[in-house]
Amino acid sequence: MANSELGTVISTFEGPTTANFAFVISNTKVRKGQFVQTQTEDGLLIGMVLEITRANRYFERAESVAEYEKNSSMVASFPTQDWEYVIANTKALGLFKDRNLIRSTFPAAPGAKVHETDIDMLREFLGFVENGLNIGKLQNHDVEVKLPLNNLFQKHLAMLAMSGAGKSYLASVILEELLDRKPEYGRLSVVVVDVHGEYLGFKQGAYADRTSVFDGRKIRVGLHKVSPQMLCEFLPELNSVQRREISKIMGELRAERKEMGTAYGMPDLIARIEQADMNKAVKSSLVGWLLELDTYKLFGKGDYPIMDELCRPGRLSVLDLSDLDSQKKKQLIVAYFAKKLFRQRKKGKIPPFALLVEEAHNFCREKAKASMSISKPIIETIAREGRKFGASLILVSQRPVQLSTTALSQCNTNIFLRVTNPYDIKHIAESCEGIDFSMQNSITSLRVGEALIVGEAVSHPIFVKVRKRKSVKSSKGESLETLAKKFEEMEVKKKEDVEAFI
Ligand SMILES: Nc1ncnc2c1ncn2[C@@H]1O[C@H](COP(=O)(O)OP(=O)(O)OP(=O)(O)O)[C@@H](O)[C@H]1O
Ligand SMILES: [Mg+2]
Repeated sequence: MANSELGTVISTFEGPTTANFAFVISNTKVRKGQFVQTQTEDGLLIGMVLEITRANRYFERAESVAEYEKNSSMVASFPTQDWEYVIANTKALGLFKDRNLIRSTFPAAPGAKVHETDIDMLREFLGFVENGLNIGKLQNHDVEVKLPLNNLFQKHLAMLAMSGAGKSYLASVILEELLDRKPEYGRLSVVVVDVHGEYLGFKQGAYADRTSVFDGRKIRVGLHKVSPQMLCEFLPELNSVQRREISKIMGELRAERKEMGTAYGMPDLIARIEQADMNKAVKSSLVGWLLELDTYKLFGKGDYPIMDELCRPGRLSVLDLSDLDSQKKKQLIVAYFAKKLFRQRKKGKIPPFALLVEEAHNFCREKAKASMSISKPIIETIAREGRKFGASLILVSQRPVQLSTTALSQCNTNIFLRVTNPYDIKHIAESCEGIDFSMQNSITSLRVGEALIVGEAVSHPIFVKVRKRKSVKSSKGESLETLAKKFEEMEVKKKEDVEAFI
């Protein structure tokens, strides 16, 4: 089927040039952001409509229009409609040759016809693949956005937007796609750090059999698996003397218990320090720090969950931290399990994984005091080195300004949903390549469920209408209206129950 004709390239003061061209439209189907094509001497030139302007000679002079409209309508008196024309200013993206996009070195020809892009070519040009992750529809085109797993997760992904823009919704859609993958296409293991319980719905419905949820209150870290160095990272406040002493004692305890084949917990370590021969002040402060660490009820004699439960191909593990109040405890959990995942992955003991971190700015903050930077080093390490080992990050944040620039700059694909804060926009523009001024403006006007994808996953930035989710929405992510209604319904039911009982 021939592609519809959209208009004719015009000669203007500014062009056509190798970078831009304009065409007067003959078809009102043309929309901002749409991909178009026109034949040139060098081949098929692909363009994207940047802006559309509408003009009419009859309405050019404000004073004449105002004067005329006082007595009668211009539209009724003149053939105004015959003089209306619409111009689409278009960016020349390149020539599509041998299934590749190459830079155009010759402008579009004035007078040449502009057509809708061929759908198959558009798919190829944008890098969509049949077995890719289907996250929605390309805006202005009837094309499913199917992103190749390699391009999306070989490096890392950042999803940035203001609160309520649809980050967790889109993240859920991406998780569904990862879980639905067939083994022959290669499946990742997915681990989610769920701070608000937004992914608990996966435990119901179609994905229940592939999902494990681990209640944050039950999560445990086996102390005997924590190296002295790691314990010092968990206690960043320790000075060098305290570090030396605790490392020595832990080293002895570890070696001894390893020989005996028994685990040890925090009380064992504390008792050992109390018996040790060391400076009294050092001893009491070490005991103090360990007692404080013990108040989090995190350290025990074994890990929960164990790695085999946490990381399996084609499965989702949700670390549900929604019932934990302490930010430090959340950081300790993320630091420990992220380290373990990365280390085991490096040894090839677990499958390639994607670690999704919600509220990433709270786990990997650009500027934070030492006690709140416990999980930052490992997230930055995975960001820097993960791609060599099949360890990918999905960083989700509504405060990109606060997110570590080291981590953010390693995210080769960025998905933006609506952002309106000018500081965030500025930060995004500075830290992400490929975002021009018009895109910055577009980010502010995106609606809920609309996303801009920039970076390695696509060969050109695209706008996407996110598809409907298949997974069940978590009750913890319900709207205020629903929560209020549910509360009242519960109250009525309670009253009815009491009355029935009496
Ligand atoms: N693509 C979409 N289609 C339909 N509804 C959507 C879509 N995206 C988001 N929503 C709805 O918008 C609301 C907010 O979405 P979501 O919870 O994903 O936002 P968020 O960016 O994660 O917010 P927060 O930063 O507060 O966690 C939800 O009720 C969700 O169901
Ligand atoms: Mg969310």
